[in-house]
Amino acid sequence: MSEADLIIRRARLLTLAPLKDERPRAGVAAGDVGAVDDGWVASRDGVVVATGHGATWERLDRVPSATIVDAGGAVAMPGFVDPHTHLCYAGQRWDEFVTRKSGADYLAVLERGGGIHATVRATREASDDALADLVARRLATAASLGTTTIEVKSGYGLEPAEELRQLRVIARAAKTCAIDVSPTYLALHALPREHADDRKAFIAEAAATVALVASEGLAEAVDAFVEQGVFDTKEVRPLAKAAHDAGLAVTVHADQLNDVGATEFAARQKARSADHVANASADGLRALARAGIPAVLLPGSAFFVGYTPPDARRFLAADVPLAIATDHNPGTSPLVGMPTAIALAVTLCGMTPHQAIVAATINGAHALGRGERTGALVRGRRADLILLRTDDERELAYGLGAPLVTAVFSAGTPIARA
Ligand code: NIG
Ligand code: FE
Repeated sequence: MSEADLIIRRARLLTLAPLKDERPRAGVAAGDVGAVDDGWVASRDGVVVATGHGATWERLDRVPSATIVDAGGAVAMPGFVDPHTHLCYAGQRWDEFVTRKSGADYLAVLERGGGIHATVRATREASDDALADLVARRLATAASLGTTTIEVKSGYGLEPAEELRQLRVIARAAKTCAIDVSPTYLALHALPREHADDRKAFIAEAAATVALVASEGLAEAVDAFVEQGVFDTKEVRPLAKAAHDAGLAVTVHADQLNDVGATEFAARQKARSADHVANASADGLRALARAGIPAVLLPGSAFFVGYTPPDARRFLAADVPLAIATDHNPGTSPLVGMPTAIALAVTLCGMTPHQAIVAATINGAHALGRGERTGALVRGRRADLILLRTDDERELAYGLGAPLVTAVFSAGTPIARA
């Protein structure tokens, strides 16, 4: 075994180790966090080399300068994976928030040229430097709250040239941040009002942009908002085909506010994940379960907008693997950290704390195609891990966003410490 340069010992260790295979966890395994009391984890050059319990860590070969952390019984677990965010934007939507809280409907505001369009205007006006700075700051906040892998979507450019600019800004911010970023081209988020009369041409141009995005390495996946009055599955099909042709994954904003068959569509397209799914049909759930595709629940947006949250138990009963994410965006979910997403997944969606922890780590990694790279503390994976200020991980769900994360390691490097 290679010599360890980082050892965390005397921890309540949650390994999230795969049970039989590397598939996303569902059914009876959905809440298995692989807890080891008085556990330890060791890494070398940012990669986990071994885990164990008791004093066996003393037998490890280690470099003379190895860092040895005594967790004192506190929880050590994989860093959070946040597989769905829109954190590349400028401006705020306080006014819309107040209007909606006074009764205005989310899709009606969008239809009138507010909502997503308001953020598009503000984001287009922001310079590359200003936008990169906003993204970098939001990434740093997420990291300080325990996120070590995060997806970031474009989607507030709409016009392909502006989407490309935003993806380049995301790449720039990702390079300077300490955590692993998975960028997504959100190609069909809303129809620009200027294109009301040439809808078809706009959609075709978005699909044609996918090859360019892929050739520049600007995204790992392509996304679309499939919703009543936004885009339908037929319109999104050519985009999904372009993604597959370019070797990119597909992910879908599916059935968030209405059942429009988007969850079944995601399964048919062999999507990497189907997200939101608050109104997915029973057929949609069966299709996801059959294909082993994770549903990404976004309780922050249900909470903030006030629609009926996805019922996790329906998905669990149907054997659909579940991930959770913040959906951080200025319109529907200003949530900045995964601990609050975990708390809401438990209180609003009906997950157990352990199911929510699985959903926030290993299953989130699967939702980003990183199920064999991170999300679990087992030999060979990135040493992405966090320490909590508690010896009972269920406090993450109970604490409603309490500052429980005391240390964050990204690929073995300490990046944040409370
Ligand atoms: O995930 N629903 C579509 N997209 C985002 C919200 C975008 C916005 O309102 O700015 C979401 O909820
Ligand atoms: Fe979203």
